[in-house]
Amino acid sequence: MDLRSSNNRLLALAVVVVAVWKYVQRRKYLREVEEKTGGIPGTLGWPGLGETIDFATNSRVFVEARARQHGKVFKTNLMGANMVYVTSPELAEHVYNSKDFGQGTFSTFIELFGDFLLVKNGKEHERPRRLITHALADSALKSNLPYFIKEISASVDRWRGRQVFIMAELKLMLIHVMSKILISDLPSALIETTSKDLDAFGKGFFAAPIKASFTEYGKALQARARLIKMIEGQVQKRRSDPAKYAGFTDVFQNYVSFVDPDTNAEHSASFIAQNVLVAIFGSVDTTASAMASCILLANQHPECLKRMAEEFRPFFGGDHPFSADSTTLDQLACLHYMNAFICEVMRVRSPFTAAFRQAVRDAPLPGTNFTVPEGWLVGISQDYAFRSSVKNFPEAAAFKPERFMPGGVSFTHSDFKHALYPFGKGAHIW
Ligand code: HEM
Repeated sequence: MDLRSSNNRLLALAVVVVAVWKYVQRRKYLREVEEKTGGIPGTLGWPGLGETIDFATNSRVFVEARARQHGKVFKTNLMGANMVYVTSPELAEHVYNSKDFGQGTFSTFIELFGDFLLVKNGKEHERPRRLITHALADSALKSNLPYFIKEISASVDRWRGRQVFIMAELKLMLIHVMSKILISDLPSALIETTSKDLDAFGKGFFAAPIKASFTEYGKALQARARLIKMIEGQVQKRRSDPAKYAGFTDVFQNYVSFVDPDTNAEHSASFIAQNVLVAIFGSVDTTASAMASCILLANQHPECLKRMAEEFRPFFGGDHPFSADSTTLDQLACLHYMNAFICEVMRVRSPFTAAFRQAVRDAPLPGTNFTVPEGWLVGISQDYAFRSSVKNFPEAAAFKPERFMPGGVSFTHSDFKHALYPFGKGAHIW
């Protein structure tokens, strides 16, 4: 008997048996999923890989194609996590508000976010959130306005007569603007390196989670480590001379000087660095995306651009409308059409395509026969939740800034129905 060929036959047989066994197991698992979810349509994709590649290629197209095919709820598996996506305003509102869902996201996001409030619940979420929100109050915006206007005017002047990559320019401009609110004394040289590292960091969120020095995910983790080290250095600087920084009101100082009333402990440098890093990243990328969309849609709707320019002129006059020293928040609030235009842009092109939550128990979805099994993630499509809300926005498919003019739709804390979903659950100036 030929030993080698009998070994080969045995190996082939073993492979077939394992494959059949895996197949049967998978079928059984999928049947259980059907039962547990009440038959939510959609597919979990390939074992291990799920539908990650499709999603990472273009998350907007991914969601739109499935929403067209399956309606307001579908299931998928992304980056190793089973997930139910909701694409209706009513279900988005339910998931944001129901106690059946807590903070939660992909394990790769958790590795990149680190110890950040977005992945925490209760006190651990509320307290660090307040440290950020205090620095974003109206009074803080008011005092920083001249600085913002100078930075923005300088950027616009730099762009004149040149072809620019708008997203890259906006991000650079916003890092200067945001650092004033977040770490107000960050030296310019560090702002430049931060900008480069943030780009590499951001690419890690939808990259294959392979930790090697040459992969996007590996590079994102390296950039994260550099950024954390840089921010920890700033913590040491402030803590070594507390008197010098006592009057500072930026987000960073709120974290540095916080003392836990229950334990009397201050936040560690590492905790502060992780929270401030995500705040920088979250504020720059989102705002840059919102501004880029405004520029795009103003070009696609010249009649809106004309109306905004007309609104501007009597207020400020001249070619260069803003004066850093005399422009006030009240004046900006009077630019009703421009404000309405910005809201409409964010309604039709949410800068933040999805927010994520996790089911803390088996969670029925109202108005359907479906259930999100405990431990599954839920993706809330910001685009659909907001843009397609016919209840809140008659003629939802039309681009109509007028709907946000005074007397039309508003979004305030108390009026959650119309809250601006692009900012998650409600408005964003706390
Ligand atoms: C156009 C610009 C922005 C957009 C579209 C945006 C969007 C969002 C969204 C959708 C969420 C909710 C995520 C979730 O619930 O899972 C969120 C959370 C958050 N954003 Fe923004 N954001 C923007 C600018 C900013 C800025 C400038 C800051 C300032 C630091 C900021 C700080 C935060 C914080 C701290 C949270 C966490 C809130 C919480 O979990 O309670 N964002 N943002």
